[in-house]
Amino acid sequence: MYLAAVVCVLAFSRATLALDNGLMRTPPMGWLAWERYRCDIDCENDPKNCISENLFRDMADRLAEDGWRELGYVYINIDDCWSSHQRDKNGQLQADPKRFPGGIPKLARYLHDRGLKLGIYGDMGTLTCGGYPGTPMDKIDIDAKTFAAWEVDMLKYDGCYSNATEQEQGYPLMSKALNATGRPIAYSCSWPAYQGGLPPKVNYTQLGEICNLWRNYGDIQDSWSSVLTISDWFFENQDVLQPAAGPGRWNDPDMLVIGDFGLSLDQSRSQMALWAIMAAPLFMSNDLRTLDSRARAILQNKAAISINQDPMGVQGRRLLKEKSGIDVFWRPLSGNTSALVFFSRRDDMPYRYQTSLATLKYTSGSYQIYDVFAERVMPTLKASTDFVVSVNPTGVVMWYVSSPAGEKHWTPTSNALPNHFL
Ligand code: GLA
Repeated sequence: MYLAAVVCVLAFSRATLALDNGLMRTPPMGWLAWERYRCDIDCENDPKNCISENLFRDMADRLAEDGWRELGYVYINIDDCWSSHQRDKNGQLQADPKRFPGGIPKLARYLHDRGLKLGIYGDMGTLTCGGYPGTPMDKIDIDAKTFAAWEVDMLKYDGCYSNATEQEQGYPLMSKALNATGRPIAYSCSWPAYQGGLPPKVNYTQLGEICNLWRNYGDIQDSWSSVLTISDWFFENQDVLQPAAGPGRWNDPDMLVIGDFGLSLDQSRSQMALWAIMAAPLFMSNDLRTLDSRARAILQNKAAISINQDPMGVQGRRLLKEKSGIDVFWRPLSGNTSALVFFSRRDDMPYRYQTSLATLKYTSGSYQIYDVFAERVMPTLKASTDFVVSVNPTGVVMWYVSSPAGEKHWTPTSNALPNHFL
């Protein structure tokens, strides 16, 4: 099948089923506390890292001042362990008064003043996963109204301490309750992660109608094995997952752990590349105050971000899983362009992988290639011409591939970033 035909089929086979709140037409980007900061509530001994308004304000300052916001990283998301163990006298959730002395509304204002958005965390069971008050059925209305009154912009609704029947009712009910507040609040559902992630239990059509994004699978940890397990699961199940995604409705393989302790430089590039191919939400969970420059460069790579944020919103796929340990991934992008990722599972040395665009089902013609992490325009490449990419162990080579020459999107002789990424 011709590439263009594949693009059309993928683009038009999806009806406009997304949750009707107009939000997240491209995958959301920002920062989320959980993976790095967990349920650290010890502000006395660990004031810089405990879950408190100071932590979220610090991260907001970094997003606003270090060039993140301009690249699209606008959400600052609170996760578990933010609340007091008791609801207030009116039955409303309340932030822990010691750790959030200004309350959530003040934090929301702080973020909004800086052009950022605030996400909060709730759970449809009796308790959150960390043991704080949950939002079971009879609390959905009051909590949705509270979040709206606090000017919250996003809710992650977890599923601990609830059963399948409750989830079936609760997740759609919260969607309705959020819509009924009149405030656009993006809705992240952990529901499929509690259903085993796949049909027959998961109805992805329904998820697309009620949620903007959903956690399909288990929690990410700060290690390469965790990143690899998650990405393997998503691509092994791509026939189910890939058609579920589109503008306003995204599969969520969980946070970016780039800049933490577990990934090498190559593995960090791999996570960024694979999350871009998957059209995944880009929520960093790291310390933006001390991030090293190499992690920053990967997370701020304009071409990788632009691929992730492509307006057509078609999730990519794994094309090939070679015996050599090389996987090839592909994502169709708007303007008849695409992204390719060559990924190595090897652990010996850079592997010289030989192929051609024709082998990867590209239609005949000449292509302009931009190497995303080398930040370099490559010589024009004919579909029929064999080429070799050298892929580091657990690393990637990521290409942005333009339409055939004649419909060029940038001047191949210039080493500047293609217009597409500016
Ligand atoms: C679950 C979720 C995580 C995080 C924790 C908080 O494990 O999947 O992302 O929110 O709960 O307790």
